[in-house]
Amino acid sequence: MNIVWQSNQFQSTSIPTTVFNSFKPSNLEQVLNFQSTLPNYSQTPLYHLDNLAKHLGVASIDVKDESKRFDLNAFKGLGGAYAMASYFAQKLNLDLGNITFNKLMEAIKDLEPVTFATVTAGNHGKGVAWAAKTFGQKVKVVLPKGSSVERLTAIQDLGAEAYISDLNYDDAVVEIAKQSDEQGWILLQDTAWVDYETLPLAIMQGYSTIVAELIKQLDRKHISQYTHVILQAGVGSFAAAVIASIYNQTVPDPPKFIIVEPNKADCIFTSIKSNEGIPKRVNGPLDSMMAGLACGEPSTIAWEILKPTIQATFSCKDVISSIGMKQYANPLNNDRSIISGESGALPLGVLIEIMTSKALFNAKDSLKLDNSSNILLINTEGNTNPKNYDDIIHNKLF
Ligand SMILES: Cc1ncc(COP(=O)(O)O)c(C=O)c1O
Repeated sequence: MNIVWQSNQFQSTSIPTTVFNSFKPSNLEQVLNFQSTLPNYSQTPLYHLDNLAKHLGVASIDVKDESKRFDLNAFKGLGGAYAMASYFAQKLNLDLGNITFNKLMEAIKDLEPVTFATVTAGNHGKGVAWAAKTFGQKVKVVLPKGSSVERLTAIQDLGAEAYISDLNYDDAVVEIAKQSDEQGWILLQDTAWVDYETLPLAIMQGYSTIVAELIKQLDRKHISQYTHVILQAGVGSFAAAVIASIYNQTVPDPPKFIIVEPNKADCIFTSIKSNEGIPKRVNGPLDSMMAGLACGEPSTIAWEILKPTIQATFSCKDVISSIGMKQYANPLNNDRSIISGESGALPLGVLIEIMTSKALFNAKDSLKLDNSSNILLINTEGNTNPKNYDDIIHNKLF
């Protein structure tokens, strides 16, 4: 089986207001106000894949293309930059909702540079390295074992001190958290755990920029037009930020939120599948080509958001992402061609499989995916692993 799926027995209208309240429409506006003053900021494009929608038998497919974000090839810089800004705003008692990047830089110019530290499969570390460079700070970045040298070099090129560890992602996070405590570095991790939630929440608020922009881009249409939002998850912070932001704009009639993951690192799927209602860790080498999604343990804050809101979760072999990558690269008729990397393309691969595979008829039926469905996808990364991208697009793999 290339895909297995699970509907969510924990879905509920009783949602934890503390985390959801960080993603209210007013929060989204404040975050966007600051983010839009960052150097090289521009809104990422929203594409409509009308021919593919017709071909698959759905009403519409919209894709927000985050591969264009800050020239970083992925959305992740949004989180690193906003969390770094929040760190300084809190230190100096400034209101980020009412300050520009230039004003913040003026306020921090006499402070000693801070050393930030993080573990990353690639994109988050690149985002934090870029943020540190932009804010004039120092940064240490650790990549888990098996990371590609291209990803390491891309981070070093931004001025970060970086190396590939011999630990997997989750173990490397534990190690850097310990070192940060000992060395006085500020840990800027894109996942939360008990007692470490403030900066991960700020990172997620940074991601809400995607939804804040989308609302503006929809023009006279409203975000409630979407019936299904399919989101890829590593630790779940990205998906949770998008879900909480959309949920608060569409309650009491939110879209169906669907989570997709690699089968070797399907911690949200496993958590939903267990009867316990608590986040579950997946062990092992987490060896998927979807490096950004290869995380074994859900973020605690993300889990609080995902648990009551998602409709279903899908656990997928790498081949499903390759289907999405190829479809994005070779569009139907005059649909836009989109460069989408391994972690970016999984939601489209899953959508194609649900709509075309007899084995997934139950999923299609239960999720009510049909010719009245308006689907939102987010391409979270471009071509971040050139050799693998090339092999897939030229049918040398799969
Ligand atoms: C390209 C890409 N997409 C999606 C994700 C998933 O984000 P999260 O770990 O917050 O679930 C990541 C995480 O690094 C990523 O790099």
